[in-house]
Amino acid sequence: MTKRIQHWLAMLVTTFMLTLSVSAVASNETSANSDNERLGESVVRQEITGFAGADYWRMVKDGQEGYTTSKSPEHGVLISVPGQTWYILKEKWMSPLGALAIFGSLAMVALAYVVVGPLKLSKPKTGRKIKRWSRFDRALHWSMAFTFLTLAFSGLTLVYGKHFIKPVVPTEVWGWIIYAAKQYHNYMGPIFGILLVAVLVKWWRKSLFTMVDIKWFMKMGGMVGKHKGTHPSAGFSNGGEKAIFWLLIFFGIAITISGLVLDFPIFDQTRRDMELSNLLHMFSALILICGFIFHIYIGLFGMEAALDGMITGEVDETWAKEHHDLWYNEVKDLPENQPGYDAAQEADKKGSASQNNA
Ligand code: HEM
Repeated sequence: MTKRIQHWLAMLVTTFMLTLSVSAVASNETSANSDNERLGESVVRQEITGFAGADYWRMVKDGQEGYTTSKSPEHGVLISVPGQTWYILKEKWMSPLGALAIFGSLAMVALAYVVVGPLKLSKPKTGRKIKRWSRFDRALHWSMAFTFLTLAFSGLTLVYGKHFIKPVVPTEVWGWIIYAAKQYHNYMGPIFGILLVAVLVKWWRKSLFTMVDIKWFMKMGGMVGKHKGTHPSAGFSNGGEKAIFWLLIFFGIAITISGLVLDFPIFDQTRRDMELSNLLHMFSALILICGFIFHIYIGLFGMEAALDGMITGEVDETWAKEHHDLWYNEVKDLPENQPGYDAAQEADKKGSASQNNA
C-alpha cells in the first residue's frame, strides 16, 4: 500500500514539474520573442537615423537626388519638393476656385433666365425654312457635345468625387465609380482631340472676326440693357458664337496637349512636366466648362428657336432674319431655300441632265 502511495506521489510530482517547466519555456520564448522584436525595431531605427544619418534624411526631405541604378529621370529623388507646391495649387486653390466658378456660372444663367428671360422672336414664324447646318455639321456638333460633356462629368468626378460622392456611397461602389471615370476619361480624351481638329477645319473660316462682330459686341448682342431686342447685324455666326468657337479651339488645344502628356507618361516626362500639364489641363477644362454652360443655356432655353437648326438642319425664316440678317440676305434666294424644294428630286434632275449632256 505504502509502495502504491509512493508511486502515485512520484507521478504527481513529475506531472507538476513537467507542467512548470513547459510554462517556463513558453514564457521564456514569449519574452525572447518580444526581446527580439524590440531589438529588431531598434536596429531598424538605428539604420534609419543612425546608419543613414539624420542629415541623410534631411537631404531626402529637401528633395536632393540620391543614387539609384535606375537611369530614368528623377528616379534618385524620393521626395519631390515642388510636387508639394503643385499639390497645394491643385487642392487648395484650383479645385475650390473651380467649383466656385462652375456654381457661379450656373447661378448666372439661372439669374439670366429669371431676370432677362429667353430672347423671343419679335415676329411670328413664317414657316419657310432656311437650310443652316448640314447632316455632317450636326453629327460633328453632337459628337463633340457628347464627348465634351461626358469628359467634363468624368473629369469633375475625378477632382470633386471624393468630396461629393465618396461620403454617400459604399466604399466598393466608390471604387467602381472612380475606376470607371478614370478609364473613360483616359480613353475618350484623345477622341475629343480628333473631333476638335475636325471642328477647326470645318468651321474656322466662318468664325473669323469682322467689324460686324465688333458692332455686335458693342450692342451686347441685343440681349441685355437698352439694346435688348435690337438684333444687331450678324453673318452666319455672330460675335458671341465666334468667341465661343475660338475659346473652344484655344483651350481645347491646351486640354488635348496636356491630356496627352498625362495619358502617355512614357516619353521621359519629369514630375514637373506632369504637374504643369495637370494644372494647365484643369485650368483649361474649367474655363471651357464655364463657357459652355452659357452656350448650352442659350441653345436650350436662352433663345427661341435656336435649337431647331442644330436638330433638323433648318431654321425658320424669321429667326434667320432677326439673328443673322447678313447671312439670310446671302442665302434666301438659293434654290434649296425655296418653298417646295425637294433635295432628292433636284439630285435626280442634275443626274439626268449630266447623262443627256454625255
Ligand atoms: C446640350 C448641349 C448643347 C446644346 C443644346 C447646343 C446647342 C447649339 C446650337 C443650337 C448651336 C447652333 C447655333 C446657331 O445655329 O447659330 C450650336 C453651335 C455650336 N456648338 Fe453647341 N450645343 C451644346 C453643346 C456644345 C458643346 C459641349 C460644344 C463644344 C464643346 C458645342 C460647340 C458648338 C460649336 C463650336 C457651335 C458652332 C458655333 C458657331 O461657330 O456658329 N456645343 N450649339
